[in-house]
Amino acid sequence: MKTALVTGANRGIGLEIVKQLADCGFRVWLTARDEQRGMDAFLKLSGSERALHFLRLDVSDPESIRSATNSLKVEIDRLDVLINNAAILLKDSDDLMNVSDDKLIRVFSINTFGPLWLTRACTDLIGTGSRVINISSGSGEICHGMSSYAPVYSISKTALNAVTCQLAHALRPKGVLVNAVCPGWVRTDMGGPAASRSVEKGAETPVWMATDPGFRDTGKFYRDRRVVSW
Ligand SMILES: NC(=O)c1ccc[n+]([C@@H]2O[C@H](COP(=O)([O-])OP(=O)(O)OC[C@H]3O[C@@H](n4cnc5c(N)ncnc54)[C@H](OP(=O)(O)O)[C@@H]3O)[C@@H](O)[C@H]2O)c1
Repeated sequence: MKTALVTGANRGIGLEIVKQLADCGFRVWLTARDEQRGMDAFLKLSGSERALHFLRLDVSDPESIRSATNSLKVEIDRLDVLINNAAILLKDSDDLMNVSDDKLIRVFSINTFGPLWLTRACTDLIGTGSRVINISSGSGEICHGMSSYAPVYSISKTALNAVTCQLAHALRPKGVLVNAVCPGWVRTDMGGPAASRSVEKGAETPVWMATDPGFRDTGKFYRDRRVVSW
């Protein structure tokens, strides 16, 4: 049975990715930074035939990453899919010139360093054909010039795209595929009720990338199953 771990999976796109992967026959670790919120989400999904597990994992906390990956290594020796989904968008951090250093560091710790730290901690578990999927955002694209939307969040996603490229280089010798995906504008707590997409649609491309047997790309940025510019 193939294995997957999804971060920030107690709600939103992460929760939907867990559900879809489990329904595709994966053994899935639903992870969340808050034990209670994570268990509540886990219990909602775990009633059926799904092979689900829960682990507490705060991606901004190296000790939490160590503890979660140590627990994982007791259970499995290979992780087929790692989905770095967790992120925050602080509504009051839109003012780049005045946002506090603490907030800057917090956003980067979750959105940018978290995926890097967790991927490094999973090195022993990922190998030929494993897929690392970083959920990024179109707001981090610089090819067409960035808008003034949520500058701190946007910069953290641009940096996540760079982390994706560098991890793809670093893990190429191991045969690990590392890519970034923009889910589009999705109706979640982050995207808001006016967003154009359902969570099912938002999860579609990451799940396709995780499950398509013919998928071989690495170091790319995808939206709607197509490569887009960084
Ligand atoms: N929604 C959109 O329109 C949109 C557009 C482009 C990209 N994205 C990206 O898609 C991904 C999922 O977004 P979403 O819309 O589903 O967001 P969401 O509904 O706000 O959910 C975010 C998830 O991340 C978790 N999280 C936050 N900080 C964490 C930490 N330190 N450690 C572990 N988990 C943490 C949250 O947990 P708590 O419940 O504990 O806070 C929550 O489960 C994100 O990477 C986001 O940037 C979303």
